[in-house]
Amino acid sequence: MIVSIDGPVGVGKTSVAKAVAQHLGLLHIDTGSMYRALAWKCLEQDLDPDDPQAMATLAEETEVLLQNSPEGPKVLCDDHDVTDEIRSPEVTSVVSQVSAHEGLRHHVVEQQRKLGDQGSVIMEGRDIGSVVFPSADVKIYLDGSLEARTNRRLKELESKGVPCSFEEIRQTVEDRDREDMNRRVSPLTIPEGAQVIDTSHLTFSQVVDRIVETVRAAIRTKRFAKTHH
Ligand code: DC
Repeated sequence: MIVSIDGPVGVGKTSVAKAVAQHLGLLHIDTGSMYRALAWKCLEQDLDPDDPQAMATLAEETEVLLQNSPEGPKVLCDDHDVTDEIRSPEVTSVVSQVSAHEGLRHHVVEQQRKLGDQGSVIMEGRDIGSVVFPSADVKIYLDGSLEARTNRRLKELESKGVPCSFEEIRQTVEDRDREDMNRRVSPLTIPEGAQVIDTSHLTFSQVVDRIVETVRAAIRTKRFAKTHH
């Protein structure tokens, strides 16, 4: 069973996917963290994020691992624990540039497909239902107004004690969306056959419940198809 969740910045993909994974016993894979780990290393090594060849080599030579630990999921980049560092404003501001290159994406997508082969997974990102797993069993596209998504990010940052303004965040969210939606390779788009959920006026648990229901229905249909063939 493969469930894909795609959608723009700040729509709540990660927390929703995590909760759905817990409800249904699926393995949760946050693909954004893989691109973030490469963006982190790009900064560490002072590479040019606009150089396609340098970015392809970076992906080829870097091992990014997603691990589960008692404290939560960890992201390892060549054995460094980068779980917290990949959420820094510096990494966030360069990740859309780094992830725009075809050569780099080729390596990352290959790894994601291998992770999907492990069995029952819920994978979230920007191109999961459109490119990585176009034949996913369930495809979800989470959407939300710019205002609602900015408010989510604002609350998240405030809870971490990071000072910021609504206007500043609205601008970064808008800029990152523009880059992710307009890049030449695998832009963020609504995948064919995806169920679109507008989260602007829904609570967190309403979104989670809807997806859990859709996945349960897909599991029943799959079982039915198996026993009748
Ligand atoms: O979901 P996130 O904010 O952690 O993702 C970080 C960036 O990675 C995002 O701006 C675009 C890129 N990304 C991507 O291009 N494809 C994916 N499947 C996931 C993320």
